[in-house]
Amino acid sequence: MTLLVTGGAGFIGSNFVLDWLGQSDERVVNLDALTYAGNLQNLASLQGDARHVFVHGDITDRALIDRLLAEHRPRALVHFAAESHVDRSIHGPGAFMKTNVEGTFTLLEAARAHWNALQGDEQSAFRFHHVSTDEVYGSLAPDAPAFTETHPYEPNSPYSASKAASDHLVRAWHHTYGLPVLTTNCSNNYGPYHFPEKLIPLMIVNALAGKPLPVYGDGRQIRDWLYVGDHCSAIRAVLAGGRVGEVYNIGGWNEQANIDIVNIVCGLLDELRPDPAGPYARLITYVKDRPGHDRRYAIDARKIERELGWRPAETFATGIRKTVQWYLAHADWVANVQSGSYRDWLSQNYAAR
Ligand code: NAD
Ligand code: DAU
Repeated sequence: MTLLVTGGAGFIGSNFVLDWLGQSDERVVNLDALTYAGNLQNLASLQGDARHVFVHGDITDRALIDRLLAEHRPRALVHFAAESHVDRSIHGPGAFMKTNVEGTFTLLEAARAHWNALQGDEQSAFRFHHVSTDEVYGSLAPDAPAFTETHPYEPNSPYSASKAASDHLVRAWHHTYGLPVLTTNCSNNYGPYHFPEKLIPLMIVNALAGKPLPVYGDGRQIRDWLYVGDHCSAIRAVLAGGRVGEVYNIGGWNEQANIDIVNIVCGLLDELRPDPAGPYARLITYVKDRPGHDRRYAIDARKIERELGWRPAETFATGIRKTVQWYLAHADWVANVQSGSYRDWLSQNYAAR
């Protein structure tokens, strides 16, 4: 049996592949375009492991997807590949439309043709699992109830609009063609291999380098943080037992304001790698806000718990400690991802703030 995973060299995808092969001998074919966010170093521990087949390619390449489906006959396609950073979507939305919308469309069409040609058990077992985000639901008022699966779609950034579009395509391919799809909408992840353009790893690497810790606006925006290993276990649960055509929200029951997250990270670094120059929080710098910045996300994860018995295993205290420890132990990984293009991004996003 085989899984076809897209985007398995990125942050969540690589955690998923490592986690999957840590618990199962089912082969993973991993299709990834290796954009700035894709990194084969994340998968170095799988070198020489015949259960992992890496394919360098693009999800908009229909001929390639057709060939992979015909050759490997996966029982499921788990679709992580995306442009994923909101700030980059503000600077350049085109790549988000191409990968997140056209790429998902291409995968759906290829999967539909493949699934139609399957028969019997192979056809009834096939699943298209679309990995999506809570950002499609828009922003919550301070006292509004958390997002359920029936919350209206109100995407506010080019990124979330492109993900919302992809969710709608997935829904339509099920409704119209009967393609056996599953969609998961997850909150903010953190953990190992998180590219340091996102809040938590950026704060860790900047603090260690003695650089400013840029907090957008007033820092009181709220996100619902989930350890990446818990996202992986939720996807496994949905793939195994989720009802076809259903949506499952995944979250950590852990709403926190950005400034509190930054202070927690600083406190852990003060404990684990004290800086003789003083507490890391001295580096916190309030900067110009993100345009259209969503104020609050929160996930109501009761459906996945009720139907599939899934709950996060990590608390924020255990997950963030593991994460900071991972970055401290992987200075080589951090140095390798801070390439010229990473430095160009930092100056594009932060120089004028
Ligand atoms: P990421 O940016 O770290 O990784 C994306 C991966 O996709 C990279 O390996 C990249 O090379 C690959 N990729 C990009 N364009 C591609 C293309 N055209 N063809 C093939 N591969 C391509 O992203 P992530 O944070 O790991 O997110 C993975 C998925 O989970 C995304 O769909 C994202 O929307 C969703 N998600 C992310 C979070 C989060 O907090 N990071 C939360 C909820 C949902
Ligand atoms: O909610 C799920 C989403 O979480 C995923 O779909 C996205 O792929 C993922 O990138 C993430 O989006 P956010 O925009 O919430 O994540 P980010 O880490 O970029 O920012 C988290 C919060 O921190 C947000 O309110 C913006 C703020 N921020 C971010 C950066 C990079 C800062 O204050 N300073 C920063 O330098």
